[in-house]
Amino acid sequence: MLSEAVVVDGLTVAYERIVALEDVSFKVFRGSITAVVGPNGSGKSSLFKALVGQVKPRRGVIKILGLDVSDARGKIAYVPQREEVYWDYPLTVWDVVAMGRIRNVGYLRSVKKNDEKVLAALEKTGLKELMHRKISELSGGQQQRAFIARAIAQEAEIYLLDEPLTGIDAESEDRLFDILSEMRRIGKTVIMTTHDLSSTFEFFDNILLLRNRVIAFGSPEKVLTAENLASAYGSERVAMHLTDVGRVAGWR
Ligand SMILES: Nc1ncnc2c1ncn2[C@@H]1O[C@H](COP(=O)(O)OP(=O)(O)OP(=O)(O)O)[C@@H](O)[C@H]1O
Ligand SMILES: [Mg+2]
Repeated sequence: MLSEAVVVDGLTVAYERIVALEDVSFKVFRGSITAVVGPNGSGKSSLFKALVGQVKPRRGVIKILGLDVSDARGKIAYVPQREEVYWDYPLTVWDVVAMGRIRNVGYLRSVKKNDEKVLAALEKTGLKELMHRKISELSGGQQQRAFIARAIAQEAEIYLLDEPLTGIDAESEDRLFDILSEMRRIGKTVIMTTHDLSSTFEFFDNILLLRNRVIAFGSPEKVLTAENLASAYGSERVAMHLTDVGRVAGWR
């Protein structure tokens, strides 16, 4: 039986007078991969922050694996958008990834140097050789991978990745998609935002197209129509371009 990983019903998020999300409803099932797409300022990051309890909804209900947000924290791994991370930590790559284990073992100091989950996450993301380097001294793409490795080490059920493709090279992108496929295979749920409509869409089970409200939600074929894209991006030209991308990728 399909079970619900995330259920959002009538969600409204506002920062004083700016309404980031209005009356947003959707649900995703366990073991699915969902892309959240929409123009800058369409509320994608605000949605993730609401799902992890970093912003309090003005209205609406969120259930994570049937739990309230405050009871579900250990089940969600969240990799924020790059610009929102303070990178200048005096921490090594290993430390950052080991932070994913704190919930299981108590303190960073009590994570063993040979902790298998940490080492496996470093291996998966191709960071094993860099594990003793300071996080602040890595390239942008490597830093991004370290945060993804931390999410993997956390062994959450649900992964929220905010623009994980931004600023990473083609090889890292391939590697990320391999990791995501593996996650889906073992029944994890992934929700990620992206501005890259070209290479990735065949990969997703669902697309949530946002412009502060839900423009469309469902399979890529259903969501990525010229009308929907024009409503989301507010420009026929952008929509035409994106639909062309869809045609090249073979959706229509
Ligand atoms: N802390 C904040 N205080 C006030 N307004 C905010 C805050 N964070 C976001 N907003 C506003 O809420 C709206 C949604 O922002 P959000 O960051 O969720 O968009 P986004 O879809 O993630 O955009 P991007 O593609 O640029 O990352 C925007 O109008 C933004 O200016
Ligand atoms: Mg954002």
